[in-house]
Amino acid sequence: MNTLPKHVAFIMDGNGRWAEARNLPRALGHRAGAESVRRAVKFARLRGIQFLTLYAFSTENWSRPGEEVDNLMELMASFLASELPGLLENGIRLKVLGDRAALPESLGRRLSEAEGLTAGMTGMTLSLAINYGSRDEIIRAARRATDCLAASGRTGGQLTQDFFASFLDTAGLPDPDLIIRTAGEMRLSNFLLWQAAYAELFFSRRPWPDFGEDDFEEALREYGKRTRKFGA
Ligand code: FPP
Repeated sequence: MNTLPKHVAFIMDGNGRWAEARNLPRALGHRAGAESVRRAVKFARLRGIQFLTLYAFSTENWSRPGEEVDNLMELMASFLASELPGLLENGIRLKVLGDRAALPESLGRRLSEAEGLTAGMTGMTLSLAINYGSRDEIIRAARRATDCLAASGRTGGQLTQDFFASFLDTAGLPDPDLIIRTAGEMRLSNFLLWQAAYAELFFSRRPWPDFGEDDFEEALREYGKRTRKFGA
């Protein structure tokens, strides 16, 4: 039986190495990475994946050189501008994960606008994790969950998994079934740590800019062969 994952999440890695291997500036690696994002979104939509989540910028990525950070912010803003009509045409809802308070004001505004405009779309949900880190997400959720309990005179003993998860950035999304990381690294790097509890992991050697439809299909095929027991 070849079951399709409902939710696929990507750790897009290797833009820099892709560029360095070609003696190109890292910025061109990220630009090629953005092309690969377009390709993956299109493929996922055609293939009937309901939820696609992409790790675009982590809470740790701020420590990169300022020029690279600015370049990534601009790339995401221009991606939004150019892709919004396509998202609407193809029934794709955009959701943002992460703390957007620290993002450049114009990017934050564009993200919120795109979320609003696509809110009614039911074809696929594309989540972009920007200024996202799982530990940061969990701490923000813990603060809000405990404040909410305290406000109604309840204590920590009444905190349940479902109640807690409703404060995570991913509230309303199913847990990822399949997490794919490119460029040969085998770790989660602070991505969806709570949500990945029972995710299947797939590691590709391909750097993100080269990750194509065939690679995506191979990961789906491999997923179809796995037996998921959820600890049972
Ligand atoms: C990892 O490559 C990639 C990133 C830090 C950012 C991902 C960004 C994109 C794919 C481009 C734009 C995104 C969108 C949503 C349009 P790396 O720089 O860590 O590569 P390296 O490990 O080889 O140096």
